[in-house]
Amino acid sequence: MDNISRTIQFILGDKVHTVTNISPYMTVLEYLRNYLKYCGTKEGCGSGDCGACTVVTGELVHEKLYYKSVNACITFLATLHGKQLITIENLTENNQLHPVQQAMIDFNASQCGFCTPGIVMTLYALTKNYSVPTKKQIFAALAGNLCRCTGYRAIVDAAANIGKPMRYEINAEYELYVINKLKEIDTNALLHLTNGTNHYFAPKTIEQLTKLLTQYPDAYLLAGGTDLALQVKQNHMFLKTVIYIGNVNALKFIKKHDNILSIRAAVTYQECLPLLKKQSPELAQLLERFGSQQIRNQGTIVGNIANASPVGDMLPALMVLDAQLTLCQACSSRQIPVADFFLNYKVTDLQSGEFIQSVEIPDVKPGYQLKVYKISKRIDDDISTVLAALYLKIENKFIKDIYIAFGGMAAIPKRAHCCENALCNKVWSEETLVVAAEQLACDYAPLTDVRASASYRMLVAKNLLWKCFFEINNPASFSRVTDYA
Ligand code: FES
Ligand code: FES
Repeated sequence: MDNISRTIQFILGDKVHTVTNISPYMTVLEYLRNYLKYCGTKEGCGSGDCGACTVVTGELVHEKLYYKSVNACITFLATLHGKQLITIENLTENNQLHPVQQAMIDFNASQCGFCTPGIVMTLYALTKNYSVPTKKQIFAALAGNLCRCTGYRAIVDAAANIGKPMRYEINAEYELYVINKLKEIDTNALLHLTNGTNHYFAPKTIEQLTKLLTQYPDAYLLAGGTDLALQVKQNHMFLKTVIYIGNVNALKFIKKHDNILSIRAAVTYQECLPLLKKQSPELAQLLERFGSQQIRNQGTIVGNIANASPVGDMLPALMVLDAQLTLCQACSSRQIPVADFFLNYKVTDLQSGEFIQSVEIPDVKPGYQLKVYKISKRIDDDISTVLAALYLKIENKFIKDIYIAFGGMAAIPKRAHCCENALCNKVWSEETLVVAAEQLACDYAPLTDVRASASYRMLVAKNLLWKCFFEINNPASFSRVTDYA
């Protein structure tokens, strides 16, 4: 019989905080503002886009504390069990402003102030992770925080001068205190919260997870929650049963084996970034434009796949690389190519009671090139309008092998087989490209929606083939907006 806990415990500031009898789907933001009256954390968009609600969580991994910024508006409170939560109310010590707060004042980095608590918390997380952050790291951290009145120059200046003229130092004694406090929380039990109607489970092991899935085959699996929490809060989606996989240790690691990078289901985008960077700078560049740092700190690649969004950023790249999924249920497992997983709009091949254990991403093969292009209205924190992934081998001006997939062009992310056929074993020339670009009309009949018209999408898709042609023929050229940023 599993040991079951019905209480959430986390460290708030520096004390263990206990929560009982709470809705399984209460967000951190709702709890802070409505229950604790901690109103320093603001609500702007309520959908993970503006960063006004940014808080910081601390997690103990192998005796070390890891801090990350997250959006409180799309984080379920229950997922904080066993972690530390730090809000804007917790930053001052002995009535002294935190160096981040002081820098914001010294550099006039706040006007109306609505965005300021979120920005301070984002920069607080930055100081926890980099003692001297680079400009790139500062920009990446702030990309998920919208400020409508100060302008970013002053905010970036504040970020670059935190704690100066001294070097900002982490308080090791305090961190040891937090580590010991976290160890006081019992995290070994299976967490089960219920209000009689809804159930929230947080298993610790694969065995517990499969058992729960057998018992509740229609349960929603929750990893980062950046989409599921949004559905609950924005679309009032009713979730009868949710199983949180973020506490299952066997789903929290990445492994490189031969030429395959295996990423388990609860690994976040941010955690994948260093290894994906090694695997392919092109993939890493795409990842850096995926949502914001707060979203990447929570969202998972496997969650992105399971979600089956037609504009899921990673999916076309995974399809052309022939990434595989390992799907498991109680007594069996199977492998399936990512390209075969999507059946229809938001419909996948996942069977009842089955879950995605991992995604296996092969290295870029010798002689091949991977090109990924994301078209969106903004560089950062935006949804793709069209996303193209091309994986090809050119030898002696001949296209020896080519795989193309697009997001945003159909109800599912989809390979462009007609276009591929028009290119494969042909001369790598303008004439070939003209013919192949026309074949995209055989592969796709894109929709018009709020993001773009069907004709715009088709034109962009064709132009992206030309962009690939230009880049491969002119490898030293600067052809990305990010080259100039
Ligand atoms: Fe905008 Fe949470 S309120 S990201
Ligand atoms: Fe007003 Fe940033 S200071 S929105």
